[in-house]
Amino acid sequence: MLQMNMANIKWILKLLTVILILNCVILFYYIRERNISGDETRNDVSQLRCTKVRQTFSVYTPAITDMMSFSEKVSELLSCPYKSNIIQKELNRALLRSCCNATDYLYLTKQNTAVHQKLPYESDVYPNYTMNEALHNLLPEAFPWSERRLGRCAVVGSGGILKNSNCGREIDSADYVIRFNMAPINNSDVGLKTDLITVNPSQILRGYRNAQKKPGPLMQRVSVYGNASLIMPAFASPLNTRTSISTLKALWPPSPQLRVVFFSSSYLKALDHFWKDHGLKGRRLSTGFMLINSALELCDHVHVYGFWPFDINLEKQTVPHHYFDNIGPKVGIHSMPEEFLRLLQFHSQGALTLHLQPCS
Ligand SMILES: *[C@@H]1O[C@H](CO)[C@@H](O)[C@H](O)[C@H]1NC(C)=O
Ligand SMILES: *[C@@H]1O[C@H](CO)[C@@H](O)[C@H](O)[C@H]1NC(C)=O
Ligand SMILES: *[C@@H]1O[C@H](CO)[C@@H](O)[C@H](O)[C@H]1NC(C)=O
Ligand SMILES: *[C@@H]1O[C@H](CO)[C@@H](O)[C@H](O)[C@H]1NC(C)=O
Repeated sequence: MLQMNMANIKWILKLLTVILILNCVILFYYIRERNISGDETRNDVSQLRCTKVRQTFSVYTPAITDMMSFSEKVSELLSCPYKSNIIQKELNRALLRSCCNATDYLYLTKQNTAVHQKLPYESDVYPNYTMNEALHNLLPEAFPWSERRLGRCAVVGSGGILKNSNCGREIDSADYVIRFNMAPINNSDVGLKTDLITVNPSQILRGYRNAQKKPGPLMQRVSVYGNASLIMPAFASPLNTRTSISTLKALWPPSPQLRVVFFSSSYLKALDHFWKDHGLKGRRLSTGFMLINSALELCDHVHVYGFWPFDINLEKQTVPHHYFDNIGPKVGIHSMPEEFLRLLQFHSQGALTLHLQPCS
């Protein structure tokens, strides 16, 4: 019994010695290898740096105090390889779908709205709007995404960073392109493809007040968007409702796909509540931020262009307010930097891709 144990112990000791020697040999070659190239060490260091900078932005920090160091951090984040995170994406999709449901309610359709249905306004100060049969007949049947899955989406803001960006081709290669406020399009910087574009009722009142009687100029103006849906915040106020309905009628019948659609106010209200619950403090979400949220729910992957709410770019050059003009926003309505920090958070989590630099 005892002898057998002794034999066992000897055998185990021998085995351990062999393992130890093997380990030493492996360690020796490993160290030699790394010292020869040095690349891996550098890779490890930069990977660590990227993990750290992603962590910095994935926790929401409420304020930007020093623009210079903020810009440097953002540049550092963008120099790290983008890491898509399917779990985070699906989590966001599920959260947004259960709160707000753009999939079934982004805008009014014959399917999601009934004749005589009472539609709330975005603000509770106005009485509900009752859907009538005449308007119901002019609503689209269904959403394009109920027929085809939206793979890669590009959400194209109007920020000055897009000027001379050369991003047109990249944007046009997306499956679904969202734009804002009838922004001008051109193939070099912002691309031409447009599937959904917002129209601000104030743009109609300013330039096309008589569109219903004389639709020519407005038709001409929007014909550049080909087959897009023009989406209007018809239930922000009764004036918006009148303007949106007259725009819809001016551009009727749809030709062949270009048509006017109305944001569903219950969707926008739900999204507003969702973000207030998550700590966003602006008076109203910007339309850009709203439609990025819709895209996060509808698209497999979301690429965001032209969102940079500061007047100095990452190369420390001054940028105009928009890629097409330099007219600033009304102050105090939106909370752009706050929303932008959420976009950085999404980017660092791998839930969407922010493009802040020129395209190659
Ligand atoms: C979204 O709305 C549709 C239509 O009302 C409904 O069938 C679906 O269950 C809703 N989705 C969620 C996640 O609430
Ligand atoms: C609008 O209708 C909703 C129910 O759909 C109701 O709760 C709300 O009080 C109505 N609002 C007004 C201003 O009439
Ligand atoms: C509009 O759609 C039609 C058919 O769906 C297509 O042939 C045409 O190329 C599209 N036009 C634009 C400008 O995208
Ligand atoms: C596209 O738009 C940008 C920004 O407005 C402008 O600088 C550029 O010259 C335009 N390019 C073309 C081909 O129109």
